[in-house]
Amino acid sequence: MYNSKITGLGFYVPDNIVTNEDLTKMMDTSDEWIQERTGIKERRWIPEGSEDTSAVMGAKAARIAIERAGLTKDDIDFIVFATLSPDYYFPGCGVMIQDLLEMPTVGAIDIRNQCSGFVYALSTADQFIKTGMYKNVLVIGSEYHSNGLDKTTRGRGVSVIFGDGAGACVLSRTEDNNKGILSSHLHSEGKYAEKLTVLSPSIKKWVPEIFKNIDTDVSYFPYMDGTFVFKHAIVRFTEVIHEGLKANNLTTDDLDLFIPHQANLRISQFVQHKLKLSDDQIYNNIMSYGNTTAASIIIALTEAWEKGKIKDDDLVVLAAFGSGFTWGSVIIRW
Ligand code: UT7
Repeated sequence: MYNSKITGLGFYVPDNIVTNEDLTKMMDTSDEWIQERTGIKERRWIPEGSEDTSAVMGAKAARIAIERAGLTKDDIDFIVFATLSPDYYFPGCGVMIQDLLEMPTVGAIDIRNQCSGFVYALSTADQFIKTGMYKNVLVIGSEYHSNGLDKTTRGRGVSVIFGDGAGACVLSRTEDNNKGILSSHLHSEGKYAEKLTVLSPSIKKWVPEIFKNIDTDVSYFPYMDGTFVFKHAIVRFTEVIHEGLKANNLTTDDLDLFIPHQANLRISQFVQHKLKLSDDQIYNNIMSYGNTTAASIIIALTEAWEKGKIKDDDLVVLAAFGSGFTWGSVIIRW
């Protein structure tokens, strides 16, 4: 069996910075509330008139990752794309990457696991490489949240949290079994599907039905039972990190860098405290980008790598929790 390792990383965020102060002009909120509850100072939102979408941003991040891997688009065997904000209801964004990057007609799939999307996507790509089916898989996480948020006081509990952006990596075959992805651990608990969701349009409730009560129907905006999600997140994050470390006979002392899904700085800090990690063992950037869902881990991983925080042989752990509920971890020897 082969192993897989990350050979190239890239990310792209729109230039348009939206500060907490900017949000106070749209809704009843404050910089103090947002920073105190979430740690977020600013996020990027695609500005009006921009051609950026989840697929377009994903393609921009992918070009950087492929180049840094020392490859060309023609070396990529398969595309895995994670998003909850696809350009179309169908088809998914993966196929759009094939087109935008003018790649040969390689296969492409979309992963629909929201905040855990990148962890699921990386794990999926890893299986294709471990079985020997593919050599180089392009893995993308990208989100265009800002066009789908309720940016009024009614939606403030959700809309202040989310940002737009994309990250990508190339996962490549290696014959060194001590390097690369050591294992991944994935979970779901669908009974909580409606605790963090966009209910419609869906096949159960299509667009004309929303229009019947357009002034009161908010089912097409993201809904989150924030406190409920928070309580589950801190438990599941901790569990799935321990599960991953234990599977590899490792402990938190072995961990060089933990990159949590950037859901809320308070969640990351709680998990850091619970695992007794030093500030050098964790990387957070939610302060600058907000929660970019499927893109958050890969943006943070890329940024940490660019800042020289990841060295050869480091033990890097990625973990996520979110809508579904879904959660998971990936254990990497760099
Ligand atoms: O990434 C996927 C997973 N997502 C998460 O893990 C998110 C988990 N949850 C959270 O991060 C937090 O629950 C939130 C940041 C979403 C909310 O923080 P909270 O401390 O749970 O606040 P809350 O929802 O209990 O609301 C407290 C108060 C409410 O007012 P009352 O009822 O106490 O008068 C809200 O109406 O804060 C109010 N509020 C706001 N005030 C100012 C809610 N949103 C805002 C806002 N600005 N943006």
